[in-house]
Amino acid sequence: MQNFRLYNPTEIIFGRGEIAALRGKIPPSTRVLITYGGGSVRRNGVLDQVKEALKGYDVREFAGIEPNPSYETLMEGVERLRSEGIDFLLAVGGGSVIDGTKFMAAAALFEGEPWDILTKRGAGIQKALPFGTVLTLPATGSEMNSGSVITRKSLQAKLPFASPHVFPVFSILDPETTYTLPDRQISNGVIDAFVHVMEQYLTWPAGAKVQDRFSEGLLQTLIEEGPRALEAPDDYGIRANLMWTATMALNGLIGAGVPQDWTTHMIGHELTALYGLDHAQTLAIVLPGVLQERREPKGEKLLQYAKRIWGLEGADKEAVMDAAIEKTREFFERMGVKTRLSDYGIGAEGISRVVEQLQAHGMKKLGEHRDITPEISGRILDRCL
Ligand code: NZQ
Ligand code: ZN
Repeated sequence: MQNFRLYNPTEIIFGRGEIAALRGKIPPSTRVLITYGGGSVRRNGVLDQVKEALKGYDVREFAGIEPNPSYETLMEGVERLRSEGIDFLLAVGGGSVIDGTKFMAAAALFEGEPWDILTKRGAGIQKALPFGTVLTLPATGSEMNSGSVITRKSLQAKLPFASPHVFPVFSILDPETTYTLPDRQISNGVIDAFVHVMEQYLTWPAGAKVQDRFSEGLLQTLIEEGPRALEAPDDYGIRANLMWTATMALNGLIGAGVPQDWTTHMIGHELTALYGLDHAQTLAIVLPGVLQERREPKGEKLLQYAKRIWGLEGADKEAVMDAAIEKTREFFERMGVKTRLSDYGIGAEGISRVVEQLQAHGMKKLGEHRDITPEISGRILDRCL
């Protein structure tokens, strides 16, 4: 096992009816800005529950944070934070709203050009406004981590940043808020969480038994509960398990002391920035390609995954690996997400565009061995056609 430090200050408040707990979590004389997206939380009553809990507070609203939150929109929010003297932010929504709120919280107090938060991947952040979240979409883990992904539309650049200053102070996870999610977002969430686990698990054996077994438990839960969540949209137990699985998939725990990959995500971000695909659609396309292209360096873990997740064993190791990759693809397809570039109208010409963008964004040494060059990324994408 590798050396590690694990720090996670976010308080999780989990369960039915827990939005009411907001009241005790924000100091009474605070000026709060509620941030949200395109209106789902207005329509499903979550925003009303939040406002009810915050009756008597000085509460303002900032709406319109879009999926794949844009720098352009968020900078309008930063203006509001500064001009209105906001003390506390409350993100109500999915990963995009939470990520956008993290950026706003950091940018409001950032000395210098806020775009540098992205170009330096968060390294220059010295402080941020405090914020909490009310999560409505299990997927990203943003509710309990210090990462965020922001898109600058004018540059077609989708870049991640991270900083210990942007952990949420608290996150409220009420599984009932997810009942109104369309199937597409449930599927996206299951696949995003699945690939988060894979990025931290399917590398090389690091002798980290707890991390491996936790990861395998999360994968098995997603395989079991993902399809059931589509069949029974208002089953509390299923939604509760999905919500906690997605949080656990990217809150630092399973990634401590192990090598991490993230190639699938970095290639996926370019596909979203160039072609507008949903985050999880890009992952469903790219992961099988990464596993095929990297079957040798990942071989031992790929066989462990085949055996423990899919019950696949046999003398012909190459065949077992192929079958495990195929099972993974089938699972994504069973969740209703297509797994080929061609399914989204992207052909071979798209590959060189993605490779150019990876180069432009400094994504030249990806993977757990830092040896995936843009050329190898191109080969991965060839396998995704
Ligand atoms: O905008 P509204 O109207 O709220 O609608 C949203 C949006 O259209 C809707 N929605 C959310 N909760 C709902 C609901 N609709 C009905 N009922 C509800 N309860 O769902 C749509 C998608 O929302 P979004 O927040 O974009 O989805 P998700 O949570 O999947 O977030 C994706 C973003 O997170 C980033 C992705 O790159 C992408 O930009 N990621 C963030 C990570 C992190 N911070 O650690 C890690 C991930 O790898 C990921 O990259
Ligand atoms: Zn993701």
